[in-house]
Amino acid sequence: MSFQFLSLEADAEGIAVLTIRRPEKLNALNQALIGELGEAFRQVAADGAIRVLILTGAGEKAFVAGADIAELARPNAVETVEVSRLGQETFRLLETMKKPSVAAVNGFALGGGLELAMAATIRMGSPNAKLGLPEVKLGIMPGYGGSQRLPRLVGRGRALEMILSGEAIDANEAYRIGLLNSVVPQAELLDAAKAWARKVIANGPLGVAFAMQAVDVGFEAGPETGMRFEAMSFGALAGSDDRREGLAAFLEKRKAVFTGK
Ligand code: COA
Repeated sequence: MSFQFLSLEADAEGIAVLTIRRPEKLNALNQALIGELGEAFRQVAADGAIRVLILTGAGEKAFVAGADIAELARPNAVETVEVSRLGQETFRLLETMKKPSVAAVNGFALGGGLELAMAATIRMGSPNAKLGLPEVKLGIMPGYGGSQRLPRLVGRGRALEMILSGEAIDANEAYRIGLLNSVVPQAELLDAAKAWARKVIANGPLGVAFAMQAVDVGFEAGPETGMRFEAMSFGALAGSDDRREGLAAFLEKRKAVFTGK
């Protein structure tokens, strides 16, 4: 499927780059764009050749400056619940596709833009990045998962500080509180994201996928259930070619060649 607001390009290494292309509106997420994101996430999940997804925004100014404010005034209360659910479910596809993703935050990540970046596995930002949930300034509140993911990433106190003031923080502060994993000059941001992706791709695909799920299950259901899931996953890997190959390669002092089986 071809997209109006996105480009999705995969390379031979298994890295796909999804670029949100609406730079004249600072890549703001209208409903059509949310629909395209859902389609793109489904495509990436289904494509066995893609191992890591990188998300970024077109232009040098914005990752995504939020949900499209011009569209927000139109739906009534009941319809707005559905707008929120659709956004939440779309970002959840990214979070649960069992493949790591990197949000390359190349500028403003506000409102829905930060909510999208927080659904990615990790976030790398350029020095001009500004991250915030300014919804309360508009008389609304975060509606695409921000009230749930921000406290999980930075702790309840810092999350409430940001959500209730609506103030954005700069890249260094975001790095300091763990909202960005790293800060990289803008011209090197995509390369840095790809370098991390290559490190992941060199590892056992099943181990990577199971470890991601163990972290999520623990966050969602608590550590006791998480521990059980971890033990079951750890055990399941014992039957895999990846484990045989990984252990043998170490003992034979060679590089492992994993198949994800
Ligand atoms: N929704 C719709 N359009 C948006 C948008 C959004 N979230 N963010 C930016 N735009 C549009 C602007 O309306 C403007 O369009 P125009 O040229 O047709 O007037 C264009 O993108 C450029 O933005 P502009 O405001 O002129 O850039 P700036 O550099 O002066 O300011 C921001 C940048 C990010 C500070 C400012 O655009 C802003 O505050 N955006 C809204 C952020 C927000 O509240 N997001 C949460 C929404 S729930």
